[in-house]
Amino acid sequence: MTIRPVLQLGDPRLRQKALPIRADQLGSDWLSELVRDLLETQAARQGVGLAAPQIGEPWRVVVVGSGRPCQRYPKAPVIPRQVLINPRLTPLDRASELGEEGCLSVPGQRARVRRWMRVHCQALSSDGRPWERTLEGFAARVAQHELDHLDGILFPDRLASAQELD
Ligand code: NI
Repeated sequence: MTIRPVLQLGDPRLRQKALPIRADQLGSDWLSELVRDLLETQAARQGVGLAAPQIGEPWRVVVVGSGRPCQRYPKAPVIPRQVLINPRLTPLDRASELGEEGCLSVPGQRARVRRWMRVHCQALSSDGRPWERTLEGFAARVAQHELDHLDGILFPDRLASAQELD
């Protein structure tokens, strides 16, 4: 296992569209190592989530939740830690809300971002089994933030208007 450097805003690798993990890659030592590095880097950096492109791996793999109180979001509810492979999100209704976000790839910046309040998430877990959940509130927010990384989107791209920030 290796704690990897987290790429920073301005690195073009953060803007690439990540590739889906293929069926023949599931269960491979390569994928297990990628997942371990992602988890170890997230834990070392006190992230509440992390996406593979942030450690320079252009694949559709994210971790959502830290499973323990997180220094970066001390007031947020603890979200169970879950590795998601090839995740997809569908909003359950039109309800959205503003909430504060930061990002390990955007140091020193926090802003309020509008996100869906309730989403259905489908993915494969790290052992390649289908996984799906309805996520609400902060968990839904983290999932949306991490999935954005897979499409090269960073939270400053989604900033609310100045009016909404007030
Ligand atoms: Ni981020």
